[in-house]
Amino acid sequence: MKEKNLITAEQMQKALSVCYEKALNGLPTSKGVIEFANEYSSKYDTPQLAANKMVANQILKCGTSGFITGLGGLLTLPVAIPVNIASVLYIHMRMIAAIAYLGGYNPHDDAVQTMVYLCLTGNAAADIVKRVGIKASNRAALNALKKLPGKVLIDINTKVGMRLFTKFGEKGVINLVKAVPIAGGLVSAGFDAVSTRLIAKQAIKTFIENPYTPDTAVVFYSYSGKTRIIAGELAAAEAADIIEIKDFKYPGKLKAYTLGIVASIRKKAWPIQPLDANLAIYNRLILLSPIWAGNPPPPFNAILEYLPAGKKISIKMVSMSGKSNCKDWLEAAIKNNGCILESFEDIKVP
Ligand SMILES: Cc1cc2nc3c(=O)[nH]c(=O)nc-3n(C[C@H](O)[C@H](O)[C@H](O)COP(=O)(O)O)c2cc1C
Repeated sequence: MKEKNLITAEQMQKALSVCYEKALNGLPTSKGVIEFANEYSSKYDTPQLAANKMVANQILKCGTSGFITGLGGLLTLPVAIPVNIASVLYIHMRMIAAIAYLGGYNPHDDAVQTMVYLCLTGNAAADIVKRVGIKASNRAALNALKKLPGKVLIDINTKVGMRLFTKFGEKGVINLVKAVPIAGGLVSAGFDAVSTRLIAKQAIKTFIENPYTPDTAVVFYSYSGKTRIIAGELAAAEAADIIEIKDFKYPGKLKAYTLGIVASIRKKAWPIQPLDANLAIYNRLILLSPIWAGNPPPPFNAILEYLPAGKKISIKMVSMSGKSNCKDWLEAAIKNNGCILESFEDIKVP
């Protein structure tokens, strides 16, 4: 057994994550996921039709010689995986992530990335998630995955890597020479239409037959971390997505207690980073914010400019006193955006 054929589970996990990132962003000769998926969604009426056509085209295109090796030359992974295996992995990952996108899922979301990995294993997915205590790979699984700490997602991702490259997947070290990928076909020189169909079927079942139609997002700002904890618990309890409002530049204490307080009292907004998610896809938004001098802090106020019309809004203000002084103003600002304030609550934290 030559040492260079041995890779650890960690290296495998790293290789999968690099390959996923390449699949998201594309290679010089191959489009990234969103552009690739949009090409089909613009031509076909339903996500199902678009996905079927995309899968058929992938099988056709990849069957032609030269395509796989051509891609492999451009795809550098942190471990020495044979070029043809790496290329097929790339094509499969991109196809599954594009199917996820067609179903309304965000391929940049860590939990969605894990679901894409699970689809890669075809039928073995159920077996892997069972070990971390999750049932099927569907919408319910996404909610379950979203609630797990990042460490557990990485653990699932690692298990998928092991399963892809070993028959039993429980050994600490993977021998690539003996690799018998259960997804099938990867060891053979060419692209296997059977394994691709199997994987595509799993992806369509996961993402298209269970389209992502989220109802609620918890949107929060936190300066010193207390609101972040409450927002996390609330999102888990409501099975809601969670979106953080991040400072463009984090203000130090001196700035927060001087300029910050003045800006809060004057209801001013400070610049924030672009949000990770599109607020338009939600029906309900639960906004959480600390209180600065009785009011929301200026980075939170920036969100009021982003609120799409027609949303049902709940506001929860988190403070030491449990007494805010901004309900009327916030209610007016929300109405001004064409949204409805459903509830307003002060939460007292020590
Ligand atoms: C600049 C500043 C001003 C604050 N003003 C108030 C206030 O007027 N009333 C209050 O009850 N708490 C006030 N606090 C405390 C926070 O609202 C409270 O600790 C909150 O839970 C912090 O949430 P966070 O950790 O998510 O930032 C202030 C905190 C800061 C940093």
